Amino acid sequence: MLHPAARVGSNTAMRYCMVLGLLIISDGASMSAAEPAAKVTATALQAVLVKNVGHAREWLQQSDFKSLAQSAGGLQLLAELTKSQSDDAAWQAALGNVISTVGEIQAAARSEDLAASKVALAGLEKAVSAAAALEPTGQPQVLPRPPAIRSLMLTMDAIQGDAKVALLTGNVEAGKKQAGALAELARLVSNSRNTPQWTALAGDFAKAAIDAATATETDPKAVRQLFRGVAQRCEACHENSRTR
Ligand code: HEC
Repeated sequence: MLHPAARVGSNTAMRYCMVLGLLIISDGASMSAAEPAAKVTATALQAVLVKNVGHAREWLQQSDFKSLAQSAGGLQLLAELTKSQSDDAAWQAALGNVISTVGEIQAAARSEDLAASKVALAGLEKAVSAAAALEPTGQPQVLPRPPAIRSLMLTMDAIQGDAKVALLTGNVEAGKKQAGALAELARLVSNSRNTPQWTALAGDFAKAAIDAATATETDPKAVRQLFRGVAQRCEACHENSRTR
């Protein structure tokens, strides 16, 4: 992987070219790896947002306001995480819109107002499909502050459940997107506490989720196996948190 110019010339020129070559290689690597990775994460989060709006609709159809409010809590977390993926104006505005309609649903669900919930949900569906049609073009922002650990966990639990269903029905692509969203949520988990043990457990979990998200396998059985690895990391942390 030497720069072609490094093969000729004096020692000094050679060293210079090698350094330059390395700079080019490492710069190229960071551009070609980080950028698409950020897009993959954004796409995963967009898909998970759409899926969760579907869940909110199901709760509303059953007039289950408690679950609707909880589901809105998860949507808010996901929308904020999605918003932080890019600082470009269109992306920020679209996700800002999603976040404000989620707020309306939360208020309507808490007061068990069916009519207001319906109006707010229709608004949310529009806002989320507009946001899902965008491609982020800017730079990632700092992650939002992690929410209470319990709501983070409930959101991850719901995503993992959706992934299981997706893989059981052979929808490998959807499963990988759920894993991509879990990998991004793992960063919030990691930021929630800062003991070395927590950091290690959250890091293992993140790694397992990334493995599942980036798997080249297309066989649902193989990807299900990777998800078992993710579930083991969830359990490993729960075991440790209990005994602490
Ligand atoms: C790095 C540690 C860690 C990882 C990784 C982790 N959890 Fe947790 N989880 C916790 C802790 C700590 C609690 C207890 C939170 C509380 O109740 O205060 C918890 C609680 C939960 C709960 C119970 C929430 C409730 O109170 O009803 C669920 C469900 C859950 N986690 C699901 C998951 C799933 C699914 C994954 C993996 C996709 C996961 N967790 C990964 C640390 C972790």
